[in-house]
Amino acid sequence: MQWLLATDLDNTLVGDDAALDRLNERLRVARSSQNAYLVYATGRSRQSYGQLCTTTPLLEPDVLIAAVGTEIYQAGSEIPDAAWSAQLQDHWDRSLVQQVVTEQFTVLSPQTESEQRPFKASYFLDPAIADAVIADLTEALQTEGIQAQFIYSGGKDLDIVPQTANKGKALQFVRAQYGVDASQTVACGDSGNDIALFSEDNHRGILVGNAQPELLQWHHANPSGDRYLAQAAYAAGILEGLVFFGFVADQTLV
Ligand code: GLC
Ligand code: MG
Repeated sequence: MQWLLATDLDNTLVGDDAALDRLNERLRVARSSQNAYLVYATGRSRQSYGQLCTTTPLLEPDVLIAAVGTEIYQAGSEIPDAAWSAQLQDHWDRSLVQQVVTEQFTVLSPQTESEQRPFKASYFLDPAIADAVIADLTEALQTEGIQAQFIYSGGKDLDIVPQTANKGKALQFVRAQYGVDASQTVACGDSGNDIALFSEDNHRGILVGNAQPELLQWHHANPSGDRYLAQAAYAAGILEGLVFFGFVADQTLV
């Protein structure tokens, strides 16, 4: 059986080391015996992902979707997939985005330099004013001819990216490359930047038990039988969901 697991890292796959070890073991077996693909879909830059790898025993994925879906790296490659990057150019001007924010939206404070990427401008934004600021920013950027997407996560991170990019669209691209059917694909996440992972396609989804309010709110407002809200947190929640959907066997029954 061929299947594909796409998972967010921070607070989804990563957060409980013992549970991660158990899941890694199951995934190792699935990848060698079942033709299972492993895809990471993170908000982090590739550099920041590299730092995480030095402290956390992550399996080498088949594909790394980085910078909230704006960059796709095939295993071992340090160069983003050019075909994907080419699709993100239209109606995007990063320096203009930065200029508009700097001049008109001083309530946004820039994130660290490593997280500023060609197709991603990232800031910190106070949750109390987030909706209003995003509405004004949408208008200001539209006036400049920029079609941006605003992704707000964890009640603090605002990512401004091209309309054509997010984790879900990047996953669709990867799925097509690997020829894996939506019904054989499962995506996992915990926060706002994972909403696209659950909404862009008709594959299965697992929300870990520790999911953030913004994701839970969206989940309850957009019910789907293909989405599973786990009881367990972090990697244990992923394993619970994989058993629920039948991608891996329930070892307690064996
Ligand atoms: C990661 C990235 C950050 C982004 C956040 C939410 O923490 O490093 O730039 O804003 O994910 O997507
Ligand atoms: Mg996360």
